[in-house]
Amino acid sequence: MYFTLLGAPGAGKGTQAATASQRLGLAHIASGDLFREGVEKGTELGLLAKPYMEKGLLVPDEVTVGMIVERIEALNHDQGFILDGFPRTMEQAQALDRALGERGKALDRAVYIEVSTEELVRRLSGRWICRNCQAPYNAVSSPPRVPGKCDRCGGELYQRPDDKVETVGKRLEVYSAQTTPLLSYYRKGGKLVGVNGEQGVNEVAEELIAALHH
Ligand code: AP5
Repeated sequence: MYFTLLGAPGAGKGTQAATASQRLGLAHIASGDLFREGVEKGTELGLLAKPYMEKGLLVPDEVTVGMIVERIEALNHDQGFILDGFPRTMEQAQALDRALGERGKALDRAVYIEVSTEELVRRLSGRWICRNCQAPYNAVSSPPRVPGKCDRCGGELYQRPDDKVETVGKRLEVYSAQTTPLLSYYRKGGKLVGVNGEQGVNEVAEELIAALHH
């Protein structure tokens, strides 16, 4: 199974992709995590992405597409995947279709996690993530067992620099202008399914898994 999670910043794509990938035995490929890993390690990719991320802008398509296609190519032939945060522009969506088509594959589903703007802002202002494994936490809805430490790997938790209020505003604007057109692209292709993201994490997970089998 090959699918992507669509949704605004803070909709819960990372949270849901982590659970669904484990439950379904799929690879989890998250463009934002890959860029942040590059920034942390000071790689060429990270240095290139950093100024865009700090401003809440999208990293150029050719860089992002190259990075994701490379990840897909590295998987075993029959390994399914969940894309989290990719595609985010029409160019990326078309490039993904071409790359999969060349390998005799096609995206099965695009799952749209729908959440109101007020809730998105609330979630992002309370988010902490693990510097080591990128697991997301929330000061209000899902705090770690030990403050400041990741439950999964014991790594240090930090607040993303792009979760500052002014950058969140820009990210939401960019999402609305550049990513929402993908909803009609996938709807026309008969691949779009919607999930109510304003429920508890477990309820969203159940609805998401059910939506995949529709
Ligand atoms: P990226 O890391 O992809 O950020 P994003 O899309 O803005 O998404 P987020 O990670 O902010 O949110 P999420 O939906 O994963 O929510 P989460 O599960 O963490 O991208 C960052 C940057 O990288 C971009 O701005 C861009 O510069 C660059 N980039 C990445 N991909 C790119 C691409 N394809 N093209 C170009 N540039 C790209 O949850 C959020 C919070 O809510 C957490 O605290 C969580 O605990 C909590 N939460 C989750 N679910 C629930 C729930 N059901 N109820 C209550 N709280 C919840």
